[in-house]
Amino acid sequence: MSLEGKVAFVTGAGGGMGFKISQDLIAEGANVLMFDIKPKPEGAAAFGDQCRYVQGDLTDDNAVETAAALAAAEFGGIDYLANVAGALWFGKDESALDIDLDIWEQVMAINLKSMVHTSRHVVPHMRKQGAGAMVHFSSTQCLRGDSAPQDAYQAAKAGVIAFSKSLAIQLASDNIRSNVIVPGPCASPMQERWTDNPASKAATADAIPLGRVGEVDDMANACLFLLSDKASFITGTELFVDGGLLARP
Ligand SMILES: NC(=O)c1ccc[n+]([C@@H]2O[C@H](COP(=O)([O-])OP(=O)(O)OC[C@H]3O[C@@H](n4cnc5c(N)ncnc54)[C@H](O)[C@@H]3O)[C@@H](O)[C@H]2O)c1
Repeated sequence: MSLEGKVAFVTGAGGGMGFKISQDLIAEGANVLMFDIKPKPEGAAAFGDQCRYVQGDLTDDNAVETAAALAAAEFGGIDYLANVAGALWFGKDESALDIDLDIWEQVMAINLKSMVHTSRHVVPHMRKQGAGAMVHFSSTQCLRGDSAPQDAYQAAKAGVIAFSKSLAIQLASDNIRSNVIVPGPCASPMQERWTDNPASKAATADAIPLGRVGEVDDMANACLFLLSDKASFITGTELFVDGGLLARP
């Protein structure tokens, strides 16, 4: 993939997909600034000098700016941004008709405005490099309704797609690409509800044409491809990694 020596800023890096993406980037020879509100996962100890872990809140613009500056100073620039962090608040994020408006604001801030923070602080470093690539994580949930709605999450994830397309056009002349991964249901800490309810996981898998839920490796493989030069003619689009869920009749 020619990722040797590249520098990536990865959010949600303490979670399921973000950790796996960081791990795979490091295995390919990249350096990674891992950002998450959670403490450094034990597994990151093995990443050595190729990793800097910052525990911080993406809704804090200053914290993101400081972390981007750290990545550039420690590793000599930033080539890639993976906006992986997200929050799905079962039980609190509900119908817009009933939702606590503070919850609405917080969910939008974590899932969408955080990407404004990371983009505005990472793009200047990409411009200095003369190139860059970004991958932002949306969700199949944003393209259909749900009898158990999570309206703030759904609207934020739709916003991610619109935001990415706008960035793709704004930044094409800077040789900076912007794409979205649209995951379907995926086994990760976000779906910890499946741990105590394997029947729910099995029912979800049954609804997916390929007959299983996603794994974090599926998302990491797609993300590394879109970041890499193998995707050098791909910008402003979405890659569905959902086992065929949205193609179902
Ligand atoms: N797992 C799924 O089924 C699924 C399906 C569709 C889309 N997605 C999306 O994929 C992405 C990755 O999800 P995942 O399954 O790895 O979830 P995860 O819960 O394992 O990881 C998400 C990470 O984001 C971090 N985070 C949340 N708020 C933050 C904040 N304010 N500042 C910094 N970090 C913060 C969390 O601490 C967590 O480590 C998310 O954007 C999610 O919405 C997941």
